[in-house]
Amino acid sequence: MSKSIFISNILPGKARELIPRDVTVDYNSSQTGLSKAELIARLRGKDGLICHIISTIDEEVLAAAPTVKVVANVAVGYNNIDVAAARRRGVVVTNTPDVLTETTADFAWTLLMAAARRVVEADHFARSGQWQKWEWDLLWGADVHGKTLGVVGFGRIGRAVARRALGFNMRVLYQDALRADAAVERELRATRMDLEPLLAEADFVSLHTPLLPETRHLMNERTLRIMKKSAVLVNAARGPVVDEAALVRALKEGWIAAAGLDVFEEEPKVHPGLLPLKNVVLAPHIASASFDTRLAMATLAVRNCLAVLDGKPPLTPVP
Ligand code: GLV
Repeated sequence: MSKSIFISNILPGKARELIPRDVTVDYNSSQTGLSKAELIARLRGKDGLICHIISTIDEEVLAAAPTVKVVANVAVGYNNIDVAAARRRGVVVTNTPDVLTETTADFAWTLLMAAARRVVEADHFARSGQWQKWEWDLLWGADVHGKTLGVVGFGRIGRAVARRALGFNMRVLYQDALRADAAVERELRATRMDLEPLLAEADFVSLHTPLLPETRHLMNERTLRIMKKSAVLVNAARGPVVDEAALVRALKEGWIAAAGLDVFEEEPKVHPGLLPLKNVVLAPHIASASFDTRLAMATLAVRNCLAVLDGKPPLTPVP
């Protein structure tokens, strides 16, 4: 019997072309997430699923799709999938690490720099006709070079963010449950610290932790108040790592200076309190969105799915 794959949302043709002709593909080219009922209906009889973070693959979906052997997520984060439930059912879950590390780190830095140097405000100022004369004190921002960067979550992306700080001659602090090898700490000139002292010392705090029960609202009123009043917070990890209501107050009341956000608690909704604030730079979850990287992610997800359907080990199973 030929194998069949359901691709639940848009995926580049170049990645889909890797699927051999004898595999049946049910492709939903839409960018809109399917309802649970539609997802379950389209998964009926399928051997594999390739999906994005907009698909919630929970116990109910897995139970209703007993033929599925692999769920290949097109993202490094996989909080949209109940991995424990998948494991219990013998379903392999894969993600797309490595291929997006550098692109995501580039974007975390984009947010950091944009927030520090007020690029979005400057753009509005220049294009709106407000720039009428030279002004000595126009749009002053914070220096980045020579300052202290705090990286929360020192996995692949956190380390890539830290590596970029070397070029800015920054001091790097990191917080992670695991200590990095001494060689990595030396190479990145990074010092491990507990979260609270890191927050108290860092001029820039960049979040790179997965969303787990213990990281939900890691940044909340208490922890935001520990940060320096001059500090900038960057979140290119997952929205719920930050309590958005508390962040709105922090930015409005000056507990911290600014923030750069790529992710939000209830995407695609942005907390209405953030919208009027000038000291926050907002992006619609695009940290991995470069031409090359998005194609590499899609390709890796297809390869993962095909490997499992061929009875081979997946390239990048979730840990
Ligand atoms: C994007 O958010 C990803 O997890 O890859």
